[in-house]
Amino acid sequence: MEKIILTGLRPTGNLHLGHYFGAVRNWVKLQEEYQTYIEIADVQALTDNFNNPEKVRKNVKEVALDFLALGLDPKKVTIFIQSAIPEIAELTVFYSNLVTIARLYRNPTIKTEIKQKKELFGNDGESLTYGFLGYPVSQAADITVFNGNLIPVGEDQLPLIEQCREIVRKFNHIYGDILREPEALLDKNARIKGLDGNEKMGKSLGNAIFLVDDPETVSKKIMSAKTDPQKIKKDDKADPEVCMVYYYHKLVNDNNISTVCKECQNGMRGCVACKKELIEHMVEFLKPIQEKRKELEEQKIVDQILKEGTQKAQEKAKETMKKIKESMKIDYFDEISK
Ligand code: TRP
Repeated sequence: MEKIILTGLRPTGNLHLGHYFGAVRNWVKLQEEYQTYIEIADVQALTDNFNNPEKVRKNVKEVALDFLALGLDPKKVTIFIQSAIPEIAELTVFYSNLVTIARLYRNPTIKTEIKQKKELFGNDGESLTYGFLGYPVSQAADITVFNGNLIPVGEDQLPLIEQCREIVRKFNHIYGDILREPEALLDKNARIKGLDGNEKMGKSLGNAIFLVDDPETVSKKIMSAKTDPQKIKKDDKADPEVCMVYYYHKLVNDNNISTVCKECQNGMRGCVACKKELIEHMVEFLKPIQEKRKELEEQKIVDQILKEGTQKAQEKAKETMKKIKESMKIDYFDEISK
């Protein structure tokens, strides 16, 4: 059976190195091999940004520009906007009958996120919304309406894929074998560490290098990155494995990496010089991405690309929806139009 890749991202900010090395770099490879759908999940972003529609709107385009600058090719992938596919919302309603409230509360991803969002949902989650609690159901609709069966995600998303599989099984059991059970395609690299040594680079954690960061910003960020705390003097021997500067050298300075490592271990490399070298490589790494981004912005073609991708996605969603409605016996007027 044909494999279909479907993945998504919430448009809440520009993409950073974590997104690239942890996810998008892999999607760029996958687009060569498989039919690939990439969803800009604005409806999902609104579940915890419902009071900030401007932010979501602005970032739809920002994220699209980042995607294209990183090498996602609209001739090969279908990049689309979630809210423009009404079938997803429709299917979410149908699926909501197949999921218990208790099961949603047990979803580990949701549990963690509710705790993290105290400001929005209150200390004990007393202001938790129906929409946020239910977004795994909507994500199951995202996946299945495109018949996606390979879902590249990070580890934190595994419970959502599992929940989708449960919905699919229940649906098929009741209404007939219509849907495919998706599988997570786990990226080993899915988590890129932050400048502060945190296990995760994240916009809200304030420890990210963004693809759009200018050289000055990159320089400031790298100068403040966490190094081996045991290393005080320039010629102290250090452990590169606990140093974020070394960690990023590994990402963008592949050729020299053994030299960087040996010199650090032998006390032949001061942290300031090491950081300066990393800054050069990082700026060099970001330069072509930023140039391509600028070019795309000047050509003003992003809206058109999004529109075409969304149209293609709409066709596919309609096709699946027709089968779903038939199986659920809610295809009232299809006979008449035949
Ligand atoms: N929940 C994902 C995230 O927060 C984004 C997403 C939306 C997604 N729809 C999806 C991921 C479908 C995989 C498949 O990053």
